Amino acid sequence: MNNKVFNNLSYGVYVVSCECGGKYTGCTVNSIMQITSNPAVIALSVNHNNYTNECIRNVKKFAVSVLSEVSNPLSIGTFGFRSGRDCNKFEIIPYELYNNLPVIKDACAYMIAEVSDEYETSTHTVFIAHVIDGDVLNDSKPMTYSFYHNVIKGKTPKLAPTFIND
Ligand SMILES: Cc1cc2nc3c(=O)[nH]c(=O)nc-3n(C[C@H](O)[C@H](O)[C@H](O)COP(=O)(O)O)c2cc1C
Repeated sequence: MNNKVFNNLSYGVYVVSCECGGKYTGCTVNSIMQITSNPAVIALSVNHNNYTNECIRNVKKFAVSVLSEVSNPLSIGTFGFRSGRDCNKFEIIPYELYNNLPVIKDACAYMIAEVSDEYETSTHTVFIAHVIDGDVLNDSKPMTYSFYHNVIKGKTPKLAPTFIND
């Protein structure tokens, strides 16, 4: 099989967040997809080794910040290359609360979702969740995973020192 076939799948870039043990935490993900519109259901895949996995399994509720092409790439690095076990990512990145959950301030949209089902694979948990709230925050273009790879990645060292130090 040619594994490059997977490079032909399209994704967005998101931060999923939740409240766990009295603090806000979360991580960068690309693996979110809409499953149904009525009811509004999404799926999210999170690696077992990510702190966010055990947090979402505990609290069964999370926010999705949809990052845009003009969102600060520091969010991707902070939430994607550091663990909430070791640091408070929301002390570094500005956010606003929606439904008592933190949403990245310069995201272009957000969703609040409640977990209804979980499916275990050998490495990841697939969370199925009902979207109970959400809104478009501005008219910026949602960032695609391809944009992240082709545009953001090369520029990240200049824009996000923490990203290269990790
Ligand atoms: C662009 C990007 C996409 C990512 N997508 C996912 C994903 O879909 N699922 C996942 O489990 N981890 C994904 N990660 C990795 C986690 O964000 C990363 O392991 C993070 O440090 C976990 O933090 P935590 O331990 O606080 O949960 C992604 C990282 C980046 C930079």
